[in-house]
Amino acid sequence: MSQPAGPILDSRVNSVIARMQAARNYPSNGGPRRNREARDPNLYAEYGFSIYPEQGDLIYLLCRAQRATRVVEFATSLGFSTLYFAAAVRDNGGGIVIGSELVPQKVQAARRNLADAGLADYAQIRQGDARETLRDLGGPADFVLIDGWPGDDGPSLALQVMRIVAPQVRTGGLVMNDNAEDDYLEYVRNPANGFRSLSLPLKGGTELSVKVA
Ligand SMILES: C[S@@+](CC[C@H](N)C(=O)[O-])C[C@H]1O[C@@H](n2cnc3c(N)ncnc32)[C@H](O)[C@@H]1O
Repeated sequence: MSQPAGPILDSRVNSVIARMQAARNYPSNGGPRRNREARDPNLYAEYGFSIYPEQGDLIYLLCRAQRATRVVEFATSLGFSTLYFAAAVRDNGGGIVIGSELVPQKVQAARRNLADAGLADYAQIRQGDARETLRDLGGPADFVLIDGWPGDDGPSLALQVMRIVAPQVRTGGLVMNDNAEDDYLEYVRNPANGFRSLSLPLKGGTELSVKVA
């Protein structure tokens, strides 16, 4: 029997990942980053805007290395990143992924994808604005993904959510960011904020930060 290419051994999880990866597509208008006038997340209910599988594999491995049991994501979208987190906490012996997503159809799709993968018991997807739903994580978080959305002028959503979750990350906890928002990078790279940070050459730049204080 052939070995899986990545670190996840569960064929049921890998088949949902493969199906979602094959269905990956992008809106013809170029998406919300290119269109200031079309940034309402509800306009993009069918689009995942997901992390790449190599980022997911790294999330899985780092969560296994940490023995992570409480992990958090902003945001969940169709649940692609959630699958890697949920597989890791399940394989660690149990735990919870706290997801967040504004668009109700996406919450439903993510729940279906998790159920298809046999991981429904390991994720709690909180529907609504992550700036509200992630205020109380119920305990220290081992790993957070900040994979946000372009906002209006002012602080990026990534930074706004980071300011809410950072105090809830345990010392030694990890935070990954996918979109390299300037103000977010400034925050995690300023040692006064308690993180040490590194840009990884994945998907054109993936910031990985560890909470040290
Ligand atoms: C880049 S996608 C997340 C992709 C996901 N991490 C994955 O890998 O599949 C960003 C998501 O943020 C959601 N979103 C935008 N603003 C939000 C908010 N204020 N609170 C919660 N979710 C939000 C969008 O609907 C979109 O699905």
